[in-house]
Amino acid sequence: MKKKWFSLAAVFVLLAGFLAACGTSDSANGSGEGEEGKKKLIMGTSADYPPFEYIDTAKSDEIIGVDIDIAKAVTEKLGYEFEVRDMDFGGLIQALQSGQVDFVLSAMSATEDRKKNVDFSEIYYTSKHMIVSKKGSDITSLEDLEGKTVGVQLGSIQETKAKDLTEEVDMKVENRNRIPELIQEIKAGRFDAAIIEDTVAQGFFEKDKELEGFTVEDADGGYAIALPKDSELTEEFNKALQEMIDNGELDEIITKWFSGE
Ligand code: ARG
Repeated sequence: MKKKWFSLAAVFVLLAGFLAACGTSDSANGSGEGEEGKKKLIMGTSADYPPFEYIDTAKSDEIIGVDIDIAKAVTEKLGYEFEVRDMDFGGLIQALQSGQVDFVLSAMSATEDRKKNVDFSEIYYTSKHMIVSKKGSDITSLEDLEGKTVGVQLGSIQETKAKDLTEEVDMKVENRNRIPELIQEIKAGRFDAAIIEDTVAQGFFEKDKELEGFTVEDADGGYAIALPKDSELTEEFNKALQEMIDNGELDEIITKWFSGE
């Protein structure tokens, strides 16, 4: 009798293992299958960007924020599962093109330049460039950047903006992979300033009274979901996102994260 139980248990263990193996396939291109047999999509993001995508280390090691909630809602509407993969912002387009990820939600601005390589959804948020520096640095206009070292995130539109600015203002542009690195370099005095988007910069000011900033102008494009060029997903993603814009779901998500909940 005992023996029979053992073999029955063994069958269960094997079966469980087999099912688990089916459920954890995480290849991109929608080829992975999630727990309920739903297609699993891989989302690429650079989790250094509160309140859009970040890790609240005091609470958990989970990536959270506006973009994660948008991804949750969109994929749920369309019957997919999704998994978030954290990578440097500068590598996201490449990851999309090589099929490492199925879509990108990373506060990525839909610029004409990027449109040559990827598809974008509707715009869901617009931002401004902000010049961030240490309080008392006397940097209050773009002209004040003359002779200064200015940090930007690698591959961002802020990097392009800074490079364009060097035609008018003689300044040195340096890049880093992650936003907190830019903040650190300012605090350490290695950068005089950094160009960061207003919403994200404001979040850092709340935590760090040493910093201040001023907005300069609207950033190019606006945030959109990026998908591989000519992807079949673009149309359905767009529909789902548009629905969220129309029925107030998107506003709700944004309000939730902006009120610092
Ligand atoms: N909106 C800017 C861009 O598209 C910066 C986005 C940075 N995103 C991030 N998760 N770090 O270039």
